[in-house]
Amino acid sequence: MDTRIAVKEGNLLEEAVEAILVGLPEEGLSTPVSREINERLQGLIDDLYARKAFTGKKEQVEAVYTAMKYPFPYIILCGLGKGERIGHEEIRCAAAKGILKARDLGLKKVASSSGAFNTRNLSIEEVGRDITEGALLALYRFSRYKVKEQNNTRHIEDIIFVEAKGYTGSVERGARLGKTIAESVYLVRDLVNHPANDLTPSILADKAREITRSGKKMYCKVLAKKDMEKLGMGAFLGVAKGSHEPPRFIIVEYRGARKGDKPVVIVGKSITFDSGGISLKPSEGMGKMKYDMSGGAITLGILKAVSSLNLPLNVIGILPATENMPGGGATRPGDILRSMSGRTIEIISTDAEGRLTLADGLFYATTYKPKYIVDIATLTGACVVALGSHAIGMLGNNEPLKEKIKDAGNRVWERVWEMPLWDEYYDQIKSSVADIKNSGGREGGVMTGAIFLSKFVEDYPWVHLDIAGVAWVDKDRPYIPAGASGIGTRLLIQFLLDTASKNN
Ligand code: BES
Ligand code: MN
Ligand code: ZN
Repeated sequence: MDTRIAVKEGNLLEEAVEAILVGLPEEGLSTPVSREINERLQGLIDDLYARKAFTGKKEQVEAVYTAMKYPFPYIILCGLGKGERIGHEEIRCAAAKGILKARDLGLKKVASSSGAFNTRNLSIEEVGRDITEGALLALYRFSRYKVKEQNNTRHIEDIIFVEAKGYTGSVERGARLGKTIAESVYLVRDLVNHPANDLTPSILADKAREITRSGKKMYCKVLAKKDMEKLGMGAFLGVAKGSHEPPRFIIVEYRGARKGDKPVVIVGKSITFDSGGISLKPSEGMGKMKYDMSGGAITLGILKAVSSLNLPLNVIGILPATENMPGGGATRPGDILRSMSGRTIEIISTDAEGRLTLADGLFYATTYKPKYIVDIATLTGACVVALGSHAIGMLGNNEPLKEKIKDAGNRVWERVWEMPLWDEYYDQIKSSVADIKNSGGREGGVMTGAIFLSKFVEDYPWVHLDIAGVAWVDKDRPYIPAGASGIGTRLLIQFLLDTASKNN
């Protein structure tokens, strides 16, 4: 990320930049900053509202040229929506729209302040975080492969918070947290956006090592095929068999607490490409299946963040990374695999590969005797059908843990929606020849997938997050450009922040 964030003391309206960003609700003037601008520009903002040239609606943005009556040529008005409905998400979206407008105008240096967006007396630290996250996440671009045709000449170099005396410390804390989180999301989006030929399991393992090296209190272990065979990871290896790319079982540890402190283990589905295997997917849209390693990318993003934030927790990330390909050695429908847990699995569809890799990933997680296990996975097409692209499917075996995840999701607006982990669904995945089978058919696909996973976590508190619908977005959103969204990263970082601060 090459946009700098700075916080300084001063008066926003006296800052020599190219534009200032100001949030405004539908009701009009509501912050001292906006009132002052209005006054100094002889009622300009009132006039804009009166003419309906600017209405303050959510996501509306308008750049006003000040004819040099200020040290800056532009004021960018960012709609916050209806006054009483303004919360963190509205602030993130408004800052996002504002910064994108500034970039479109070719500006490089802009300023704002917590007070310019804080119409409702929210914590200024949190507002500093919201503005930073919204702006930085919006500015993300993936242009690595645009070699000849560069469309990136426009670039915001500096975002400066100009704060009143006594505010700088809080805003700085918020902005720093926001930037750390945004950096993790950038990492996740980059990994996911990379095509599968340049993001193989081995390359993903190299990335994990690189992240580990550049972080603090981090350790990385990568198991190769032989180690996995020794451990009896037959389910995971059964998926890997169809590909020429060697599988990698990646473990990243962050030790921020005492040795005896039970860790939180995150297991991320890391299929670097899902062709379906012998149960081949239709070719239409198959290229998108490079995003089937989103869970693993998110896991790495989380570890990077908890290390930079120096959280007093032990966190383990597990990425069983492999392709799912229909090579000559591939597992066939009808085959029976023996998982690390000892459970045998009848293969109904080789396209239900995620749960096979996670079966061994989750069982490996239990060897840490963890406080919590969270898995995050683009697991089922059924989840896309059920929840679309705005909710993460959540299922789990522990009420307090689910509650914590729900709260974290609401805070960062990566919301989860619970679906039932009822015993009755188990019937669909009982096998007549093995202990369990890997597909329960079309009906209730989210639940049967989760029930399958639940058999590999013993009795540890566990939550499964199905991000199939949200990990890739087809249309730009205020702070999510089309492509890999990184959704799930901020959710779990928040969850870990909460876990660390409540010490529970
Ligand atoms: N990676 C897919 C799930 C998926 C589908 C994610 C569409 C995003 C968009 C997963 O491996 C898969 O193929 N699941 C099957 C399971 C079925 C065979 C039980 C599915 O959902 O069809
Ligand atoms: Mn699949
Ligand atoms: Zn898959």
